[in-house]
Amino acid sequence: MQEVLYEGKAKILYRTADPAVLLVHFKDEATAFNAQKKGIIARKGEYNCTIASHILQYLQQQGIANHFLRQVAPQQMLVQAVKILPLEVVVRNIAAGSLCQRLGIEQGRVLPQPIVEFYYKNDDLGDPLVNNDHIALLQVATPEQVELLRQQALAVNDRLQPFFQSRRLKLVDFKLEFGINGHGAVILADEISPDTCRLWDWDTDRVLDKDRFRQDLGGESAAYAEVLRRVVEST
Ligand code: TMP
Repeated sequence: MQEVLYEGKAKILYRTADPAVLLVHFKDEATAFNAQKKGIIARKGEYNCTIASHILQYLQQQGIANHFLRQVAPQQMLVQAVKILPLEVVVRNIAAGSLCQRLGIEQGRVLPQPIVEFYYKNDDLGDPLVNNDHIALLQVATPEQVELLRQQALAVNDRLQPFFQSRRLKLVDFKLEFGINGHGAVILADEISPDTCRLWDWDTDRVLDKDRFRQDLGGESAAYAEVLRRVVEST
């Protein structure tokens, strides 16, 4: 039996025989609002694992280093072991979610340029929004690393917007996580999936992401399946 290194809300990380490699198992469990809302999205594990595998592989082809090695089962991928930085990096192209709540901006407004935000990963504090000075105070990343994360996040956005557009999906916003690998390099990690992106149908603005679960819209499994179909079929 493999040893569990860490169990999160949507994934379980196992050690492998190689200390530089971890196995990620994607769960069907879904949470929202810092796990105050819990549920199951049928087949989410395999949908997200396959979507994330495709996207991370695509980003590698585009020169964006990340932890992905290969998908080994419908719900499992092998990744490089990294130490995750306790920062969530959010990029926004269209106003939605907490941006609208915080600043009173109407949902759906196309932003004049992408916005990058940092959140401190800390469940007890509810993942608060932080600025560069807060990050320095918390000593969770150096100023150089913060600038690198910002540049990397914008580079990911530059690659993913056309990727999703060709699949008739609007990339409204998304969340990234980064980690430090065995060579000390900061690389993109975690997943990119409908759990971590807002994706709207290009023509109708139909929501095809975890907001269906967050907002009790229903049809979340079918929405994830639709994203998977569009991501995989156009590859
Ligand atoms: P927000 O509008 O709620 O701040 O979310 C911005 C983006 O980040 C959205 O695509 C959903 C994603 N996200 C996560 O992946 N995990 C989280 O815990 C939160 C709050 C948002």
